[in-house]
This record gives sequence, C-alpha cells and structure tokens, in this order.
Amino acid sequence: MSTATTVSLDEVLAGLKEQDCAPQLRAHWDQAMAAMPSIRPAFLQHDQIRDAWEHGSFEESLPQELLKLADRVAADRHLLAMAWFIYWYTFGPVDRTWSWTMPELTNCLGEDAGLFYLLVAMAFIPAVHEYHKTLPVTPRVTEDTCRQVQCFTLNYRRGMNGRWGVYRSQFGWLGNYLAPNLYMRVGRFEYWRQTYKRGFRVYRQVATGATVVLAPDKNTYTAQGHQCFNPSQLPAGTWQSVFTEDADAVTGNPISPRGKAMSKVVKLDKKQWRCVLAPGDTVLDMHIPAGGQMGPQACHESFEEAARLFCENFTDDRPKAITCGSWMLSEQLEECLPEQSNLVQLVKEIYVLPLPCVGNDGMWFVFLQSKFDPATAPRDTSLRRDMLNYLNKGNVWRNAGMIVMLDDIRHFGTQYYRRQWDSLSLV
Ligand SMILES: CC(C)(COP(=O)(O)OP(=O)(O)OC[C@H]1O[C@@H](n2cnc3c(N)ncnc32)[C@H](O)[C@@H]1OP(=O)(O)O)[C@@H](O)C(=O)NCCC(=O)NCCS
Repeated sequence: MSTATTVSLDEVLAGLKEQDCAPQLRAHWDQAMAAMPSIRPAFLQHDQIRDAWEHGSFEESLPQELLKLADRVAADRHLLAMAWFIYWYTFGPVDRTWSWTMPELTNCLGEDAGLFYLLVAMAFIPAVHEYHKTLPVTPRVTEDTCRQVQCFTLNYRRGMNGRWGVYRSQFGWLGNYLAPNLYMRVGRFEYWRQTYKRGFRVYRQVATGATVVLAPDKNTYTAQGHQCFNPSQLPAGTWQSVFTEDADAVTGNPISPRGKAMSKVVKLDKKQWRCVLAPGDTVLDMHIPAGGQMGPQACHESFEEAARLFCENFTDDRPKAITCGSWMLSEQLEECLPEQSNLVQLVKEIYVLPLPCVGNDGMWFVFLQSKFDPATAPRDTSLRRDMLNYLNKGNVWRNAGMIVMLDDIRHFGTQYYRRQWDSLSLV
C-alpha cells in the first residue's frame, strides 16, 4: 500500500494550525506516509466504525457525530494525514518510544478534538481482535480488553459535560495492549506481564508463611515512613534505608503492609526467610480502568482469573505477584473515605508500599483537571467530596504501590498481610 499524494509534515502542521510538533512526528512521518493507503483507510470507513462500536461494550448507540467526523477527516488531506499518522504510530508495526505529546488539534477541530481521538481510538478494537487471535485467550478477555476505549470515554464525558471523546493524554496508552506486549483486561482490572523493576524484596517466613517486604537500598523516607515528595527539600527526621545480603542473612528496613517504611533495621536469617519476589522477577503489573464497581468480589475474581490465565496459558514465564502503582492504593484512603467504600476495602487486602511521587500526583484521574486545584475541583460525587474535604485540610495526596503474591490471592478477604504483620514481632 502506498499513497498517491503524500503530504509533508510542515504542510500538515501549518494546515492544522499546530505550532508545537512532537519530535516523534518528524522522526516517523515519512515512514508513516509511505504506508498510507491511497483509498480511505479502513478505520475511517463507516462499516468498520459501526463494527468496532458493537464490540466496544458501549451502552449507548453509536453517536452520529463520529461518522460525520470520519467523513470530514477523510475529505481533508491534512486531517487525513494526521489521523493516519496517529493511527499508524499507535497501532502499526512500529517500534514506539512513548512521548505523550500528541497534537492538540483544537485550533482546527475546536470542541471536536476529543472526538477525533475517539475516532482513531476505535481502531484499537479490531487491532486487539486481530492480535488476540494469536494468543491463548478467551473471547471474554478480548471483549474486556477492548472496553478500554469505552472507559476512556467515561473520563472524557465526565470531564467535558457529556461530550463524546477521548483525552489525547490517554489515547497513546492504547498502543500498549498490542504485540509484543502481553497486556489484557481480565474482569475488573488490566494486567501487563512485565519484569519487576522496583527495588522492593518480598520475604516469606518458612515456618509460618508470614510476609515481610524490605525497602530498596538508599531510599529516602520521612519520619512517618513515606517517601519524600521533593528529594532536594528533605523534612526533619528524614532517614535512608539500607539493604545488604550475605550468604546467611539479609538486612534491611521493613515496610509495613499499611504502606510505611520502618527506620528500624532487621536481619532475616536465610534459613528461616525465603525471598519470594525480587527485582528482575516476572510480575503482572495491574492497571485500573475507569468505571467504578470495584467491590471486593470483583477485585478478588479478577486477581484469581488473571493468575490462572497467565500461569496456565502463558507458561514460558510465570509471574509471581500482582503489582501496581496508583493514587488509589494510598493508605490515605482510610483517612478520608468511609470504611465500607470499595477502595478502603481493597487497600486492606493488599501489601501497600510507599512510592516516590509528586504531591497530589494522580488527582487527574479523580478530578480530570489539567492542573489540579482543590479550591475549584468538582464536588459532584461522594468520592470527590470526601477527597476534597481531606485535601482542603492541608493534606497532600501520596500515590502508593502494592504487591499481592499470587499464592496469597486465596486469602483475599481476610486482610492477610495485615494480620500476619500484626502477629510478627519484627519492629
Ligand atoms: C474512582 C474509582 C476507583 C471508584 O471505584 P468504586 O469505589 O468502586 O466506585 P463506586 O462505583 O462504588 O462509586 C463510588 C463513588 O465514586 C464516584 N466515582 C466513581 N468513579 C469516579 C471517577 N472516575 N471520578 C470521580 N468520581 C467517581 C461514584 O459516582 C460514586 O459517587 P456517588 O456516591 O456520589 O454516586 C473508579 O471509579 C475508577 O474507575 N476511577 C478511575 C480510574 C483510575 O483512577 N485508575 C487508576 C489510574 S492510576
């Protein structure tokens, strides 16, 4: 396939009134144009859009403005070239290095810029179907994975007065679900098989099965056991973790499952403590799509099904744990949400870890403001109100990490890590 009339990036940017051009556009532009078909690309054809919509778990019927925009894009050589580039760069056989700077497109499309990203995002659905034909996964996993476009529209509609669209800052994430990655949704959550890169190590007491996480070497923690927001402005009481290992023992600072690093150093005898997770091991890195309904049963079922899927169907490299980093794993949830809320219940079932973060990082996912401002953030849901009440008291949000060892999923619902920790006399 090659296009009859290729168009230069400079001409397209001038035509679309896009001043800022991300470097990756220029680096890949000619290659993308060489791959552009001379006829209307499939992802802009009404039949494919309708078909994708039907497989996208949308509750509403296909908005007609999406088809109208497809016609407008197909008829405008600048929009067409840009749509093709973004489609090809995201879903094509490209060695992607992610920069999150997609063109804004509001100068040429105004309020339809988000709809443009939804239009191109619809191509994700057939791309996932094609890729999953090569994987040992059930149709339900494929269907669930394809829901991410609909989940992105939930955010966009919540933040943009009900308009259809996808935020351009979220759009690029869709490329991650395709080959060669193993990244798919299983029930409520998404899981990406990856190498564990954070420095935490998980130890298991042979006699009791108790679990203790040790901090990485040379991390800086506050007196309360959190990671410091700004390494160049360390509050009083800050301390540094240590980790050493010899033939007989490991020595380090434990992290409590409630997400706090302990300044006391402990020594674990290797005859009694076995390392069950270390950097370099394979894990399922979990991601949480929008959509609420994160009740304990949905979380537990998703953990179990994901462990089964990846251990039984992808036996070349079995994961050891589910890991995650997010605003919604913070131990602060217990200070601001009701005890029975889904998020608080989840936090009690996982091993929470302090992560480096910028203060209030992650609040975009709750308030959808380009720059989070607690004074003006929307208060229309109980989640938003509870969190704002907490933040407006002078608290700053800290993201957190989690570990759940696959062997421990069966204990979900018993606050397993907390109970074990409380009966240990380590610190
Ligand atoms: C925020 C979230 C985790 C809440 O899950 P949950 O507690 O199971 O949600 P529920 O369905 O029980 O809803 C609880 C309340 O939160 C509100 N809510 C749900 N999702 C929300 C969201 N994305 N933004 C703001 N409020 C939200 C609900 O409207 C409800 O409020 P109400 O009592 O006034 O009706 C979930 O909605 C979500 O999907 N978030 C976005 C994705 C995300 O942040 N991913 C992590 C990226 S690091």
